[in-house]
Amino acid sequence: MIPFPEFFLGLKQRREKIAMLTGYDFPTARLLEEAGVDVILVGDSLGMVVLGFPDTTGVTMEHMVHHTRAAARGRSHTPLLADLPFASYESPEQAIENAARLIEAGADAVKLEGGRSVAPQIRAIAGAGIPVVGHLGMLPQSVRIEGGYKIKGKTPEQVGDLLADASAVEDAGACGMILELVVPAVAKQITAQCRIPTIGIGSGPDCDGQVLVTHDLAGMFPWFTPKFVRPEAALAQTLRETARRYVANTKAGGLERQQAQQSEQ
Ligand code: KIV
Repeated sequence: MIPFPEFFLGLKQRREKIAMLTGYDFPTARLLEEAGVDVILVGDSLGMVVLGFPDTTGVTMEHMVHHTRAAARGRSHTPLLADLPFASYESPEQAIENAARLIEAGADAVKLEGGRSVAPQIRAIAGAGIPVVGHLGMLPQSVRIEGGYKIKGKTPEQVGDLLADASAVEDAGACGMILELVVPAVAKQITAQCRIPTIGIGSGPDCDGQVLVTHDLAGMFPWFTPKFVRPEAALAQTLRETARRYVANTKAGGLERQQAQQSEQ
């Protein structure tokens, strides 16, 4: 397998758009690989769409290691990127230790949220030889401080912060960055400014690639769908109907069996 940074940077250099999707378990990772996804993200969004938490702040290193191991078993050659969860990279030392745990679990690279404030952590992880991806814009792990999921890059101050954060993430040694809910024109500017690829989510078409939560794309989490997602399927509906038919058939079969037993007596 080509080392993750070379693979990722190569896609940008060849102007090949990067298609990334989340996969948190064996069958999903295997299906995504069969579909030709460029990178599988074991995102901490699993906290919401798999574990039923209200946001990502309840996700622990144990959850991430467990799901990274499962997804790693499902892919053979597709690069696996795993999230460092909330409060797992408070210092450069802690960041290296936890990044190494995710690599040991089967990830090829790790991702963390923030710009200038986490540049020392990015530098430390990259310096330890672990490929690292940044995450700017709306930061789900900060939702409790921010008070909601808000679009970034609407004011000149926010634009200045985003541009400075993008430079800091790149200079610290990240090999790519996610841009989540960034005003499209600003995402385009960051993409043009950076040598490393930008992967957008709700940030317009001009990033070097796109990422989505597979549950949103496939209609597997029907209770909430972000505004910027147009689901391509309705798998939750298919599962619900399949289970309903099974329940009906089982009940009917049980009734028939009871009646058959009674007539034998
Ligand atoms: O956790 C996740 O799935 C993510 C994506 C939303 C980029 O970080």
